Amino acid sequence: MTGNRPLAFVTGASSGIGADLARELARHGHDLVLTARRTEPMRALADELKTLGAASTVISADLSKPGTAEALARDLETRGLAIDVLVNNAGLGAGGPFHESDPARVSEMLYVNVVALTELTRALLPSMVKRKSGRVLLVASTASFQPGPSMAVYCASKAFVLSFGEAISYELRGTGVTVTTLCPGPTHSEFTTVAKTDTSMLFEGPGASVMTSAEVARQGYRAMAAGKRVHIAGLMNKIIAASGRFSPHAISLPVTSAILKPGK
Ligand SMILES: NC(=O)c1ccc[n+]([C@@H]2O[C@H](COP(=O)([O-])OP(=O)(O)OC[C@H]3O[C@@H](n4cnc5c(N)ncnc54)[C@H](OP(=O)(O)O)[C@@H]3O)[C@@H](O)[C@H]2O)c1
Repeated sequence: MTGNRPLAFVTGASSGIGADLARELARHGHDLVLTARRTEPMRALADELKTLGAASTVISADLSKPGTAEALARDLETRGLAIDVLVNNAGLGAGGPFHESDPARVSEMLYVNVVALTELTRALLPSMVKRKSGRVLLVASTASFQPGPSMAVYCASKAFVLSFGEAISYELRGTGVTVTTLCPGPTHSEFTTVAKTDTSMLFEGPGASVMTSAEVARQGYRAMAAGKRVHIAGLMNKIIAASGRFSPHAISLPVTSAILKPGK
């Protein structure tokens, strides 16, 4: 804690869902440690959070580089910042057939979405368990619920996050520490620009239900505060996730492929 306020560490805080989760946490009485690569948007966010009564520390870090999670954990320790809430939100997608994908991009996605998320959780959980108190929020996706042709690595990385989150949530029962996995569906943010893929079917196709990052963050915060194991944001996304989870893959693969295929 810094003073009497619990301290939340948010990755991917420079835009989208992460920035809105930081706003939500500040509104609910937390101080913040914000991290992403771009410093300027995080400084602007820190100024905004000050008006909500929250003090913020901004740390620029590239989670696609090996060793970054460990270095961040050491940095927090050196600064004497004990984390009460860990929000593993940073993530990115990419589209197109896997065999044509840029290997560097694949590695970046795996590092940010999977490796850094796992390493940060491993580094920060023990002190929460020792203090018998803590909250962890992992940002997965409705992509977690079925394989995704044309976004194979992204969907697989989010399946990892959901599986990992549910498993450690169960391991930690009775410790005072909870782990919540948040699964948003299509959400307005910088995600599609960064993914450089045509997501028009997802965002504009029949039955598309796009949420604001503020609404996703509001729901994610509430689920985390309640210690919920998994939260799928939005009714339509709950239906889509259930159909992905329970449909035979012989059906879900062609349907997901049609939705995710670029060039619609
Ligand atoms: N938008 C959607 O439709 C959607 C749907 C389901 C799940 N999600 C998930 O929601 C999370 C947040 O995404 P978003 O929609 O808010 O997208 P976004 O606006 O693109 O935000 C992504 C955040 O991750 C950070 N990030 C990316 N690469 C990084 C790296 N190498 N090192 C450190 N930070 C990095 C970015 O910061 P810098 O660029 O400054 O480093 C940014 O703050 C992601 O995990 C995403 O997979 C999004």
